[in-house]
Amino acid sequence: RLDRVNQQPDMKLVVISNRGAPFDPNKPQTGGLAAALEPVVERSGALWMFSSENRGDGTERPLPLVKAGEGYVAKLDLPAAHHRGYYRDFSNSTLWPVLHSLSDRTSRAEEGYDSYRQMNNFIARAAFDLRDRDAFWVHDYHLLPLGGDLHNLGIERPTGFFLHTPWPTPDMIERVPNYRELMKSMLEYDLLGFQTNRDLNNFLACLRTYFGLEGKDGVVTTERGQTRLQKFPIGIDPRPFAEYLAAELSPAEQEKISSLLQNFEGAKFAIGVDRLDYTKGIDKRVEAFNQLLAAEPGSISLLQIAPSSRADVDEYRKYKEEVENAINHVNAEHGKEEWKPIHYTNDPFSQAALARLYRAAHVGVVTPLREGMNLVAKEYVAAQDPKDPGVLVLSKFAGAAEDFNEDEALLIDPNHPEEIATAISKAANMRLEERVMRWRSMMDKTESYTIHDWSADYLRELDKSRITVPANQFH
Ligand code: F6P
Repeated sequence: RLDRVNQQPDMKLVVISNRGAPFDPNKPQTGGLAAALEPVVERSGALWMFSSENRGDGTERPLPLVKAGEGYVAKLDLPAAHHRGYYRDFSNSTLWPVLHSLSDRTSRAEEGYDSYRQMNNFIARAAFDLRDRDAFWVHDYHLLPLGGDLHNLGIERPTGFFLHTPWPTPDMIERVPNYRELMKSMLEYDLLGFQTNRDLNNFLACLRTYFGLEGKDGVVTTERGQTRLQKFPIGIDPRPFAEYLAAELSPAEQEKISSLLQNFEGAKFAIGVDRLDYTKGIDKRVEAFNQLLAAEPGSISLLQIAPSSRADVDEYRKYKEEVENAINHVNAEHGKEEWKPIHYTNDPFSQAALARLYRAAHVGVVTPLREGMNLVAKEYVAAQDPKDPGVLVLSKFAGAAEDFNEDEALLIDPNHPEEIATAISKAANMRLEERVMRWRSMMDKTESYTIHDWSADYLRELDKSRITVPANQFH
């Protein structure tokens, strides 16, 4: 099935995102986007430009290229002075919560907008060197206006954008300063990709409400030309998960995993793996354990892996405290001398180490309040033992719930801890035949539409802009 990758158009592609991947299975991933794009770039020969951890002084310089599988990586130093406005304030204190429809967590970063625009412009100028490649594929909410900036510099190659997060309803997006300008700039892309029907329909509703524009057969026509809009539900590459289980870990990580797993010997445990982010519903999950353990003392414990994230954003600092307090409460209330209900760590783990932990856990708990897709849900499925698989408890507001239905995962409303608690209890006590049936069906879906199918589908669609509109007539 993975051979579908060969149907990917033969193009010299540039991928652009704010954050990149480590290109090392023994190093932890930094989020869903990085985990998704790493295998695509390694296989397709694309050049991936992302911002470097070492923030620079803002001088543009020729980008050094590093080989990554068949592909290349070019790290760009963004000016340190803009970290606050572009990344902390506008991208992650305003856009991120609004895109997840969490108005209580939103602050209006009016000043950050200027930095955000300047950084998009800066990245576009750095990409100018790459103007002779065949197409540009831009990722995520940090770079909504980049397509327009690329065109303004005279780059006339097809440009596509994929949003990894959800897109909200018209009354939510209004909370973003300059939302009209931003949405208009998104129509500079030739192809806009969304995770789910819900996101695509919300975006179309916003276009209708604010610009009177109607999408016809997935196409919106403006003075600039045509923008095609489609959903492309992102997947994973399930094959390495089987390989990870056999792979050797570094001695330090092996030691860490073994000592974690010792806590659960002969007992049931659930696993949660999330960036420490308020969209992930970790607090509600912990409350679910509180209720479950009150009703069924000592029945199951939780391993919660939550690498710290965006620690300079106030809401993240607050959330860290909220989660820690909730966990301490559950452990004090329901723990016994020889048994701790919740094991919690902020350490990041490699994909290879996570595969082992997923495999050992009886239940995978994925409870975001809202999420673009959630690849942990798919990774949990991919790592299971076909003869004795665990059960997935999944938020109905994660994009993954458009892929996995109620005959497969146990779908819950993440706002209701009692619903999560009931599902975890059901999962932990489910008979083998039902577990196998549910898992088999999810695994078939995970294998039949992988990250390589996703990128091939997207790029074939993007390639149509190259075929139908020759570069010199593009504007
Ligand atoms: O996958 C979604 C995403 O928001 C990415 O865009 C981002 O890189 C990742 O999560 C991790 O967040 P950050 O880059 O802010 O650490």
